[in-house]
Amino acid sequence: MPHFLVLNGPNLNRLGKREPAVYGSKTLTDLETDLFHFAERASIQLTFFQSNHEGDLVDALHEAEDQYDGVVFNPGAFTHYSYALRDAIASISLPVIEVHISNVHKREEFRHHSVLAPVCQGQIVGLGLEGYKLAIRYLVSEEGAVS
Ligand code: DQA
Repeated sequence: MPHFLVLNGPNLNRLGKREPAVYGSKTLTDLETDLFHFAERASIQLTFFQSNHEGDLVDALHEAEDQYDGVVFNPGAFTHYSYALRDAIASISLPVIEVHISNVHKREEFRHHSVLAPVCQGQIVGLGLEGYKLAIRYLVSEEGAVS
């Protein structure tokens, strides 16, 4: 059974309370519960981790290499400036899909650039929480090559 890490970065523990007009009203627990049921129906195993700390996310990526078949990663604001996360992604051989709930391109200029995108397999932007499911679907697809 494929096993993926769903990794969420800073402030995503505030989902549901944080800027609901941008991120919606569902909490991180709602998201994880929904993804768990979605994955269960498709015989996919998911592990969830959220941290507000860059080093914890670096550690989670390093440890992912031996434990999972891929990573679905919403790096929050670290997307835009964390070379440490970029190097961590580049250091592992797993496919990492970058997910953003909001359409970062419609928002402030600083959100338009991702320093992580060049080392990720792909990026899903602006499709709300559905983006996480799309990333998982990709990872189990023929193209994603995890079976
Ligand atoms: C985000 C977009 C980032 O710019 C922001 O800092 C976040 C959330 C998103 O999911 O839309 O924390 O990654």
